[in-house]
Amino acid sequence: MEIIHTIEQLQNIRKNINATVGFVPTMGALHNGHISLIKKAREANEIVIVSVFVNPTQFLAGEDLEKYPKKTEADIKICQLCKVDYLFMPLATTMYTQDEVLIKAPLLRSYTLEGERRPGHFDGVLQVVLKLFGLVKPTHAYFGKKDAQQLSLIMQMNENLFLGITIVPCEIIRESDGLALSSRNVYLSDEQRTQALAISKSLNSAGKLIGRGILECDLIQESMQNIMADLEIEYIAFVDRAFNKIDKIILGNTIILIAVKIGSTRLIDNIWI
Ligand code: PAF
Repeated sequence: MEIIHTIEQLQNIRKNINATVGFVPTMGALHNGHISLIKKAREANEIVIVSVFVNPTQFLAGEDLEKYPKKTEADIKICQLCKVDYLFMPLATTMYTQDEVLIKAPLLRSYTLEGERRPGHFDGVLQVVLKLFGLVKPTHAYFGKKDAQQLSLIMQMNENLFLGITIVPCEIIRESDGLALSSRNVYLSDEQRTQALAISKSLNSAGKLIGRGILECDLIQESMQNIMADLEIEYIAFVDRAFNKIDKIILGNTIILIAVKIGSTRLIDNIWI
């Protein structure tokens, strides 16, 4: 595996690749969720490129940019073990200059839910993903369904800007007790981690209710709220795959999303129905 720090290095390498390129963009602190994306990329592509870059433009003032977990040595080891070909680890000054062309996320899909709580967050995500796509020129790019709204916006950007990349949505990876993997789980104390299990429990119970034929979102939401009674719920949302709000579950075209705060840690999770 080759570690790349500069744009020139990456562009020179990419110029000489005439093969399928699977790309996994990450912010590091790699866990089994990322590993599952890398494995998918490895299975389906001749070349695999992973990026580790904590992108400052997607953090709002007062968010956890400064304390975002950094595990450079472990990330390198994991990528080596997963047989990644190239690991791109740029500095912020390598990726950004002053006064840049800016990307604006589409208003309807990006200023609800996560975008409403974190205004501008998705502008930053799309900005960096487009830059990374421009450098890596992947044939395939891998994103987790856990960040469902991010995934949906990246798919829309791919379509709207005619990027022609195959975006591969990947399943949410969970601990054996149901907690969805996230780099931010390290912020949780043992007690908070136990409390956080109510999130996946409520999503499972929603799945069970739907399995029993209950399709009214109000009823499902009430039961989910009861299960998460001890948590500070930011939202429970029912949307179709295009992120339009729905009142009744549409089988095969629904995502139920949750955001909660536990102490100062924000966690999100979802289930695709
Ligand atoms: O999902 C993430 O880790 C980030 O939002 C991404 C896609 C790597 C962009 O910084």
